[in-house]
Amino acid sequence: MEQLIKEAEIFVKERFKEEVTGHDWLHMERVRRQSSLIWEKEKNGDPLYVDLVALLHDVDDRKLASVDHALTLKDWLVKMDVQQDLISKLLTDTSNISFRKGNQSLLSSEALIVQDADRLDALGAIGIARAFAYGAKNGQMICKEGDFTEQDQYGNTDSTLAHFYDKLLLLKDRMNTKTGRELAEQRHRFMRSFLCQFEKEWKE
Ligand code: ADP
Ligand code: NI
Repeated sequence: MEQLIKEAEIFVKERFKEEVTGHDWLHMERVRRQSSLIWEKEKNGDPLYVDLVALLHDVDDRKLASVDHALTLKDWLVKMDVQQDLISKLLTDTSNISFRKGNQSLLSSEALIVQDADRLDALGAIGIARAFAYGAKNGQMICKEGDFTEQDQYGNTDSTLAHFYDKLLLLKDRMNTKTGRELAEQRHRFMRSFLCQFEKEWKE
């Protein structure tokens, strides 16, 4: 497992080195670090497997169009001679971490920790920076009139500010671990105060 983690570091670092929507190598590193911190408190599952899922969780993400996806995670794992059961487990975990497409009930206890860490990186100051970077790259407006409310329908406007109400503000109530929930709470509060100031300036 240690050797595979080393190989994963090299693979992921190279694959995401030019990514500019906040899904760069530093996102993978932060998710790995936050996952370790959560694991230290929760002690749930195998910490090495937590590391591996954290490193590989975005490899197959289709929305990262600027990254060359010729090699799928499965291809890479096969190339690395990883055992079939571990491949299946990793593919189930990494394909179900996503907010939009994932099925949380299929996640292992380790992947539930990584999902919390991934969500923490979507919150707070870093989460704000990542959202606007993603939005700019994908041609979204910063904000449109009428975006300052919770949307009753998921994804019905396409500005970056609307994404806060569609998704980012919902994350704190969807955390899996107690530690994740506590960390999310602080970042959520910071994001709320940012939105409050943003709205104030917008309306001045
Ligand atoms: P997931 O797969 O659960 O969406 P990721 O970690 O792959 O999680 O990436 C989600 C991040 O991508 C969000 O935190 C946000 O920063 C950014 N993002 C995704 N969709 C949008 C959007 N429509 N507008 C702004 N940011 C977005
Ligand atoms: Ni991610």
